[in-house]
Amino acid sequence: MTGWTWEYEGYEPADERLRESLCTLGNGYFATRGALPECSADDVHYPGTYVAGCYNRLTSDVAGRRVENEDLVNVPNWLPLRFRLRGRPWLTPDTATVLEHRLVLHLSSGVLERLTSYGLGNGRALTVRQERLVHMADPHLAALRTEFTADGFSGELHVEAALDGGVTNAGVERYRDLDGHHLTHEHAGTAEHDTVWLRCRTRTSDIRIGMASRLTADAPVTIRHARPRTTQRTRLQLVPGRPATVDKTVAVYTSRDPAISDPLYAAVARVGRAPAFDELLRSHRTAWAQLWRRADLDVPGEAGSILRLHLFHVLQTLSPHTADLDVGVPARGLHGEAYRGHVFWDELFVLPFLNLHFPEVSRALLRYRHRRLEQACTAALNAGRRGAMYPWQSGSDGREETQQLHLNPRSGRWLPDHSHLQHHVGSAIAYNVWQYCEASGDTEFRHTKAAEMLLQIARFWADAARYDKVLGRYRIRGVVGPDEYHDAYPDAQQPGLNDNAYTNVTASWVLTRTLELLHGLPEPRRRELAERTGLDDEELDLWDEISRTLHVPFHEGVISQFDGYGDLAELDWHRYRQEYGDIRRLDRILEAEDDTVNRYQASKQADVLMLGYLFAPEELQGLFARLGLWLDEETWQRTVDYYLHRTSHGSTLSGLVHGWILTRARRAEAWQFVQEALRGDIADVQGGTTGEGIHLGAMAGTLDLVQRGLTGLETREGALWLDPVPLPELSSYGLSLRYQGNWGVRLRLRHGRLEITVPSSDETPIDVRLPGRAVRLEPGETGRLLLPE
Ligand code: BGC
Repeated sequence: MTGWTWEYEGYEPADERLRESLCTLGNGYFATRGALPECSADDVHYPGTYVAGCYNRLTSDVAGRRVENEDLVNVPNWLPLRFRLRGRPWLTPDTATVLEHRLVLHLSSGVLERLTSYGLGNGRALTVRQERLVHMADPHLAALRTEFTADGFSGELHVEAALDGGVTNAGVERYRDLDGHHLTHEHAGTAEHDTVWLRCRTRTSDIRIGMASRLTADAPVTIRHARPRTTQRTRLQLVPGRPATVDKTVAVYTSRDPAISDPLYAAVARVGRAPAFDELLRSHRTAWAQLWRRADLDVPGEAGSILRLHLFHVLQTLSPHTADLDVGVPARGLHGEAYRGHVFWDELFVLPFLNLHFPEVSRALLRYRHRRLEQACTAALNAGRRGAMYPWQSGSDGREETQQLHLNPRSGRWLPDHSHLQHHVGSAIAYNVWQYCEASGDTEFRHTKAAEMLLQIARFWADAARYDKVLGRYRIRGVVGPDEYHDAYPDAQQPGLNDNAYTNVTASWVLTRTLELLHGLPEPRRRELAERTGLDDEELDLWDEISRTLHVPFHEGVISQFDGYGDLAELDWHRYRQEYGDIRRLDRILEAEDDTVNRYQASKQADVLMLGYLFAPEELQGLFARLGLWLDEETWQRTVDYYLHRTSHGSTLSGLVHGWILTRARRAEAWQFVQEALRGDIADVQGGTTGEGIHLGAMAGTLDLVQRGLTGLETREGALWLDPVPLPELSSYGLSLRYQGNWGVRLRLRHGRLEITVPSSDETPIDVRLPGRAVRLEPGETGRLLLPE
């Protein structure tokens, strides 16, 4: 790792999947894993390509049941390019001698460079140097340049490039019992003498995919179609020391794309118009340079390099092109098949970062949710509820996509999956809607789609809450909180828990904010909404009452994760650590021992503590005060300590959230958790999961940890609030933001001094609030503030 490159030396089959994920190239529209073009999918290599939002649904038989799953489809592989000396086997690092092997991911330009030297015996070698890009300016294009150099011999090199429609979704071992054949009706053909095409469609969602590939070489190209592949071949005459080049340029379209007639025609036409590799590279670099300027994050040292890699992958998954798409935030990026490309609550960790750089992308991601509002209302209706019940896992049309069964690889058992009871996802959407509106000042969205979504999410919570006469409070029963280890009370017949504190407090927040938003609507708009949704004053009064009286359980002077958490058994953490070492997936360990984590005070990830992640201390105290509860600093710190000792961090989000709240609390342990979050994917801390796709929430979350966590930045009441906290290991940093129409607002913190520069424009001044201070910065002005010790 250097400041702007990410490098791997030597060929390590065991690390290949991890490298492929971390060397994925993408542009928000599609992404391709960093697999070696001469290798096909097997136990070592997995060359997947994914188009954002391209899903397909299949039914499989597992454990005697028919289960339906929707997957982000692994579309035809555009990468294949293999080579061999005349009459010899194809060269791959698994079958030939590798003298040298290097992968360099250039973050500044979005280029993956690869160099391999194959030993051919008798002092002869073939060096293969490749540069690959997935074009950031034209989202439908990708290109691969290959240079072959002979050392110690002259001869004919056979090169074969292909588009391969024979791929399946097979990237995640746990899913192998499930049907992964998503493509059908593959057809191939020739467009021009140097261009071939492949078309196919997904089996049930009927998305048509068109791909075209142009091969440019220093020798004639021949074409052969052998369904489901189409190949282009050439024979290069190699002379020692003189590189011979082959360029492959590819275009991808699907029938989901706007402004096309049909995807195949679009792909062929696009590749026909595409300039040569050098020109593609030039425009690609320019697009990346612009992206880096818009999302500038300058942190020195190793942490800075990791953050840059995280930013790179966030921008490859959610780029300015995303603003034109109907897609959500895929939990594992477009980098692999884990969680099937589904959209969870993880956008809670992603949008706050995007809001301040690419608000149009945030808006598009929220529009994905808005388009599925009707589906969420139908889900609520089917469950006998009012309002909108957003799915825990969302895919193409917004129905609940959470698997019905999941496999515990430790025990080999397929188990019922109750994680769909995580209705708190609705509050995450509401939180993001609110944050987006505050950061962007987008009143049009606030008055229309934001109001519509908030209203229905609030209505769902109000309807879910039931009055308990004994407690004199409203309760929400039968849910699962962010800690998805606990999905039922021990020995209960039904899944679900009561009064998950995170769920109830955020539900109260949603109700309160919705009332505020509705109150602030222009009267004609409020009337329209009321007419359309049947909202009346009585319902609003009820929301107000519920928002003040939801039950939040406590035990031993700490907030209970849910009612009864304190009655669960204590786990012998020491024993389990001794016996198993890594106990992040404690749920699987216990289940394999015929026990269940439901019996113990043991959490997968931050649950109650998520409250400290979403809300600054004052706001959290205010929320509790509204509920008639007193949350002082001591109680909160006791709560933090309590759960810190009872959490196994089985999700990459856990280290992030703990790092954040411990940093905000100025606690010494903070760095340990921040590091866990920083190392989550590069060191694959969840043991083999990064190879199945990056953890986008944790990656974006670490960026936001600097942007909002360290700076204490909040956008509310029309002002930019800052309250920096020191983290000795990350004590100087700079970033630029887009805030309410002001592009490139620069924030720099160094040696306890904060500098804010607002670039010249005809925008209105920015109000900046620091503890005990308020300043107004005109465009073109720089404010320098000394922070208190
Ligand atoms: C976490 C969830 C998260 C999901 C997708 C799970 O392991 O527990 O909170 O939404 O991964 O990233």
